[in-house]
Amino acid sequence: MNILGIESSCDETAAAVYTDGGLQSNIIASQAVHEQYGGVVPELASRAHHKTIWRTVQQSLDEADTSLDAIDAVAVTQGPGLMGSLLVGLCFAKGLSLSRNIPLVGVNHMDAHIYANFIDNQPEYPFVSLTVSGGHTQLVHVTGAFEHTLLGQTRDDAAGEAFDKIGKILGLPYPAGPVIDERSKQGDPDFHDFPQAMLDNDFEFSFSGLKTAVKYFLEEQDNREQFLEDHVDDICASVSYAITEVLVKKLRNAIEHTKVSTIALAGGVSANSMLRRKATELAEQTGCTLYIPKLAYCTDNAAMIAITGYMMAERQMYADMNMKPFANLKALERMNM
Ligand code: KG4
Ligand code: ZN
Repeated sequence: MNILGIESSCDETAAAVYTDGGLQSNIIASQAVHEQYGGVVPELASRAHHKTIWRTVQQSLDEADTSLDAIDAVAVTQGPGLMGSLLVGLCFAKGLSLSRNIPLVGVNHMDAHIYANFIDNQPEYPFVSLTVSGGHTQLVHVTGAFEHTLLGQTRDDAAGEAFDKIGKILGLPYPAGPVIDERSKQGDPDFHDFPQAMLDNDFEFSFSGLKTAVKYFLEEQDNREQFLEDHVDDICASVSYAITEVLVKKLRNAIEHTKVSTIALAGGVSANSMLRRKATELAEQTGCTLYIPKLAYCTDNAAMIAITGYMMAERQMYADMNMKPFANLKALERMNM
């Protein structure tokens, strides 16, 4: 079976080919246009998707040394994501499906982050996934393929969103997650004790207070500019410490609650070096096997859409021309996918 995967939920236009022989190509066109605005501008994102999607798809086919004639299903991100961005990928996939008579698969982006762990490995069920991205932070109990129970999620900002918003306060470029990660390596994680919210709750998260704490901490300094110049690495390290501590403590709660012996990280924030290190230590302490996607499969990519599409096609989980995009998870629940 040969699957073409297409991802366009946010600001990456991506296409990949996954076959019985594994991943054959993984192309990403990132959109630099948003940098100057310090965040993703939805209208500009959909326009950029529109411009590059056909080239990205063609490149993924070329690199896989194949053509549409050999593709058995087109898997496309159905949501969650930005409506305009999702529509571009979805309409493109429907066009391919209609004109070439290729079956369609509609992929949940959050599922795909989890199944990115299956590109290079074969994690055993049941496992708990800590799915941490720019839009979501979730603890998911995965008891079988596409059998998920949500243990808990964030009540406000996602972990990646916290990194990005705090980075903006610190004057760092967007997306700030990777920049804060790099700067943390030179900084002191004990420099300041930032709040770790909701530790009395087992599986739910809250990160918006941390952002406010960083803002007030800077306002308290006599010379904010000088203080930032001297200590930005230390603040980055202390922020990274607070975020990753909460994530790993709740992951530990989930292991104890579900009694799993396998855990996985997923989503853009799973690229974070401090999180990867702490999760590795947690796995050693609890005797769990830990899976973390390769860096290229942590942040948004189409390889994760292609493998999830492959697994769905294996289970005959096809969509049809009525498939609609959904911007948020609530809409997904309503659609009872
Ligand atoms: O999964 P993803 O690519 O997109 C969404 O589905 O949201 O995640 C993007 C998020 C951004 O907030 C970005 O700052 C964060 O992942 N991120 C990181 C790192 N790399 C990406 N956060 C912390 N450390 C990193 N190394
Ligand atoms: Zn994502």
